[in-house]
Amino acid sequence: MQQPLILAPEKKRSQTNTSDEKTDQTQSHTNGISGGKSATTPQTHRFDLDFTQSVINATGPKASSRMRKVMASLIRHVHDFARENEVTVEEWMAGVEMINEAGRMSTDKRNEGQLLSDIIGLESLVDEITYKLATDATDAPTSTAILGPFWRANAPARKMGESIVHNIPDGDHTFMHGTVMDYLTGEPIEAAELDVWHTAPNGLYEQQDENQVDFNLRGRFTTGKDGRYNFYCLRPTSYPIPYDGPAGKLLQLLDRHPMRPAHIHFIVSAPKYKPIITQIFDRRDKHITDDAVFAVKESLMVDFLRRESDPKADFELPYDFRLATFEDAKKNSLAGTTEESASFGADVVHGSGGH
Ligand SMILES: [Fe+2]
Repeated sequence: MQQPLILAPEKKRSQTNTSDEKTDQTQSHTNGISGGKSATTPQTHRFDLDFTQSVINATGPKASSRMRKVMASLIRHVHDFARENEVTVEEWMAGVEMINEAGRMSTDKRNEGQLLSDIIGLESLVDEITYKLATDATDAPTSTAILGPFWRANAPARKMGESIVHNIPDGDHTFMHGTVMDYLTGEPIEAAELDVWHTAPNGLYEQQDENQVDFNLRGRFTTGKDGRYNFYCLRPTSYPIPYDGPAGKLLQLLDRHPMRPAHIHFIVSAPKYKPIITQIFDRRDKHITDDAVFAVKESLMVDFLRRESDPKADFELPYDFRLATFEDAKKNSLAGTTEESASFGADVVHGSGGH
């Protein structure tokens, strides 16, 4: 006689699973959440909480310690997220499609994945974690800000005093100048490189705009012994992040605007010094308090001054950059980037880790 099919209760099923036996030893009373304290709602008990640990336990012995730790945490949080919100198959598939679409749109000139990450504040948060600093202290190194998706490698090396502006007669031409110095001693730093980039008055970076010459509004400048730099640029313009892709759709669904306050991007580096990626923001911009990617910091707001008797510029922007040596950064816990985290990044990108 055929036995009636009886579906075992979820809890009972998990108890027969070898992987879950491990779970019972390590995760009892934790609801699958690290640290033993659940942040999830009571509804999560409707689901097999041991399942999460069985997925984590599938990690093999050759995985690096960082990979093991980060992925276990990611799996716990993603599973809790799914249980807490009772995510359906349709909703999960919509999320997968959004990521796929971001990938299809991304090229060497457009980074939609990064943009998605930016509008949920993740790049700004990671920036804060990586460069943990007393950002508003006057003797601190220059604060950092997100790289953003529009940086291009190998911008042209330019001479001091040169302009990065080509074929844009209109716009607020600006003379920017200052010193790159050691944040502790105030000594000028020789051979420091400033990699600078910003948008045209139409709100577009050159790679988004076929009417601009290649590498327009970009340049790299190298300091001499006095650590000083100067060049001509434009007073930047606020602009919308590209919103014709998944990031734009998400902003729309969240009833949010895509605008960024006017800013100029920099990567400042020098031998023996920890490089900084940063942006400086026009304090008077109307979007200074509601940046679509949450990158503004008080210490990075600047004032553009009127410049008299310079036929090439109506504005002037004095700004000094303060760098910390790798040694000082380590001593004063300024640097979050470690050898382990750097190799983790390389492993993920190049697939060389753990094997
Ligand atoms: Fe930007």
